[in-house]
Amino acid sequence: MDKVKAQYERWIYPEPIEDLEAWIAGGAFSIGDAKHCGDIFWPATGYREGMNILVAGCGANQAARYAMQHPTAKVAGIDLSEASLAHEEKLKAKHGLENLTLHRMRLEEVAELGQTFDFIASSGVLHHLPDPVAGLKALGGVLDRDGVIFIMVYGRYGRAPVYMMQDLFRTLGMTTQTEEDVALVKATIQLLPKEHPLHTYAKRSSDMKFDAGLVDLFLHQQDRPYSVPEALDFVHDAGLAFQSWVEPMYYNPDGHVPENHPLYQRLEKLSDAERWAAMELFGGFHARHDFCVCRTDRALDSYQIDFTRPDFPDRAVPILRTSSLAPAGDGKPATVTGTRVPPLTLPPPLVAIFRQIDGSRTIGECLQAAPVNIAPEALRHHGLRFFRSLWRTGHVTFRLKESS
Ligand SMILES: C[S@@+](CC[C@H](N)C(=O)[O-])C[C@H]1O[C@@H](n2cnc3c(N)ncnc32)[C@H](O)[C@@H]1O
Repeated sequence: MDKVKAQYERWIYPEPIEDLEAWIAGGAFSIGDAKHCGDIFWPATGYREGMNILVAGCGANQAARYAMQHPTAKVAGIDLSEASLAHEEKLKAKHGLENLTLHRMRLEEVAELGQTFDFIASSGVLHHLPDPVAGLKALGGVLDRDGVIFIMVYGRYGRAPVYMMQDLFRTLGMTTQTEEDVALVKATIQLLPKEHPLHTYAKRSSDMKFDAGLVDLFLHQQDRPYSVPEALDFVHDAGLAFQSWVEPMYYNPDGHVPENHPLYQRLEKLSDAERWAAMELFGGFHARHDFCVCRTDRALDSYQIDFTRPDFPDRAVPILRTSSLAPAGDGKPATVTGTRVPPLTLPPPLVAIFRQIDGSRTIGECLQAAPVNIAPEALRHHGLRFFRSLWRTGHVTFRLKESS
């Protein structure tokens, strides 16, 4: 049997959720969810009800989760593991998910479904394929022209300690993924010196907490990571267009490096791709990359966030993600804060501009409406820089109005 299939038949991943309602009520959060990221994936139209969604390599829960959280969508889940699909079937029956269909197949053969999709999620899967490019090409082949694929692949540098451990266990001949091997993995981790880099990784990984997660991390027989340039090449080689990172703040210096620091100024001289790659090396923590891609014939106007375009300020409507403004007081400056994003302190003119964000005004209209005494040219320059910073730090997304 194929070694990847054999693993996921025996060690189904992730930990099966027994009750999706309780899981959702507990506030569990899916990175790259189509609704949650609607403005990132479709800046011109936002999330639409009634989409055709494919969950490629759905594992034990993800297709049912999608069907539950997107009740007007038609959701198809595919996976090569019968054991995982059996759990998805159980969730489908338990929660009456009529909008869910499940298929046992390799995602490389997805064209056999004879369907196309508005949205495809493939999270933690493509890096396990013998030929990831062929897999992504197959997904691109069933994507509608305005559709989006959300991808999560492993990060090369942030996962380095995991690959050290994989090499160790391979050296020890632990290639069978037995209970005995899992027990030895656990015992070995207990004995690692306290300076070992795995400890930092382990603090952030939920996979360390269950056996199938430990197998997935340390005893996987087919897994490759991606650096930023490798991820961009991967998309290009599959004949698709890179659209954006789901969390731009991990790939930009804003919020991490002061704007007046010489490092920031050097980083700003780079192309986007070079700057993202540099920030991955600077950060050192990217254990995964979450991003979205689309077809190369999708209209650029409908998704490109390009601050250099002269019409951008008049098309882009800033939308606050989770952030709000804490006004100045008690000797503290005004600060924009949000969930899992770096706080930004604002001088009074930027506070006045920030207050104009209402979900319908464009950048240009926000700048015009702000009661600030700044010459128009300077206002536009600094205002645009400010909105770019809010976007790069994950405080806002943009909805794009039609270009005139
Ligand atoms: C790490 S799990 C991720 C599961 C799910 N996407 C999630 O995030 O919860 C990887 C899944 O991909 C499936 N898989 C691996 N290779 C595949 C392939 N070529 N075609 C379809 N599914 C595949 C495995 O069976 C497994 O269920």
